[in-house]
Amino acid sequence: MDGREMKNIWVIANWKSNKNIKEALEWLDVVGPKIPRKENLKVVVCPPFTDIEEVKKNVLVSNYPIMVGAQDLSPFESGPYTGEESARILAELVDLAVLGHSERRQNFGETDETVAKKTLEAQKQQIIPLVCVQDEKTPLPEGIKIVAYEPFFAIGSGHPDTPQNANEVALKLKERNDSLEILYGGSITSKNSSVFLKQDNLNGLLVGQASLDPEEFIKIIQTTPS
Ligand code: PGA
Repeated sequence: MDGREMKNIWVIANWKSNKNIKEALEWLDVVGPKIPRKENLKVVVCPPFTDIEEVKKNVLVSNYPIMVGAQDLSPFESGPYTGEESARILAELVDLAVLGHSERRQNFGETDETVAKKTLEAQKQQIIPLVCVQDEKTPLPEGIKIVAYEPFFAIGSGHPDTPQNANEVALKLKERNDSLEILYGGSITSKNSSVFLKQDNLNGLLVGQASLDPEEFIKIIQTTPS
């Protein structure tokens, strides 16, 4: 087996502001039993905050090979920050946090500086920061290990970047830090996922809309290399 076959493949479901607890558990009942147990396949579901506890409990009880992630976390430690979920609070429940998603940058004024603070908070609590970048020039917070390349035009548009360009951007990011794992996100479906997964410099996918449908998400998982 060569090194390429053994690289980590991440498939991350970003539900955004979708699914209540009941819907989340229905999804898990369908998806959970169908995720293959492979050491290099890392499947993560990032539900809304209010679903996280129930999803986590169900994953543990059913022993599904799924990690639970948050879609964001606070740039501050616990304390007087109304409405914020600190990394310390989330650390009981999540393994990973998506940080700096472009929807947060566009709609909630998130800056590279805020993303760097959130990254630090995640690292202090052993939560893996998955930092979203819009191109190869986006500043990378110190110590990060996983990045998602998510060009603005591709998110929720039905128009993904080309796999070749995503691979090129991933290469440029790796030139900045060769230990990074790079995911691609933006209009991924089960029809285009396999071509992205075949790119040398990509380590998986961040999936929004298509992750909401459990059958479609399973199909995407099935396109990961065996
Ligand atoms: P999309 O979203 O798959 O719906 O384009 C991807 C993302 O924003 O993570």
